[in-house]
Amino acid sequence: MNILTFDSDSKLNEAAAGIIIGTVQTTPRAVLGLATGGTPVGIYKEVVREYDRGMISFRNAISFNLDEYVNIPSDHPESYHSYMNQHLFSHIDLPAAQCHIPDGNAADPDAECRRFDALIEQAGQIDLQLLGLGHNGHIGFNEPAHALIRGTHVVELAEETREANARFFDSIDEVPKQALTMGVGTILKAKKIMLVVKGADKADIVARALQGPITTDCPASLLQTHPHLIVLLDAPAASKLK
Ligand code: F6R
Repeated sequence: MNILTFDSDSKLNEAAAGIIIGTVQTTPRAVLGLATGGTPVGIYKEVVREYDRGMISFRNAISFNLDEYVNIPSDHPESYHSYMNQHLFSHIDLPAAQCHIPDGNAADPDAECRRFDALIEQAGQIDLQLLGLGHNGHIGFNEPAHALIRGTHVVELAEETREANARFFDSIDEVPKQALTMGVGTILKAKKIMLVVKGADKADIVARALQGPITTDCPASLLQTHPHLIVLLDAPAASKLK
């Protein structure tokens, strides 16, 4: 595991964007695993900046998002479809047919999960998986549990996750109760994983995830087993590491 700590948000975002861009530049048909939430906003902004400077083309890349809420229209401002369009897809030349996000409105969610897994399988391994970290140790929406699920599945969001994401909605009642998420098996199969965490409020969970026991009670702790894990932290998030 390679842990890098940054004293400024802009340096962290530049480094993370550089890793995404480097992967796309050096891999003929790069397969990117993408995340949403507050953490990657500045990273995507930096990617778009480099794209605007003519440094990179995404024409041949393919992307798979980690997750999507169940039962909010895909054009709802807080759907992860809207998020990805707003922060990344509408700004770069990644063809729409090569961007994949689970469909949280599918009539048959289990069939949608199988379809999504089949697409990932067909694309080959994910070359670079970007991850944020939940306060409870979730990655994607794989919440702490007695057992974790390998492939894409429907998940009940933990109350803590709904509370954390209520900041994006008018009230907690509007936060969906379920999501479709890639499973930990798929996440861990990525060739390289980049975990990005910002903020003092995540310092405890960063220490548990990276230096605590490997347990399904903290799904991110499974990342310790990955051979190519790079962790980008701001100084407050790194403050409880030994
Ligand atoms: C988002 C995702 C989640 C977030 C996590 C952290 O696609 O899968 O695991 O990465 O909830 O969210 P933020 O960055 O908003 O703190």
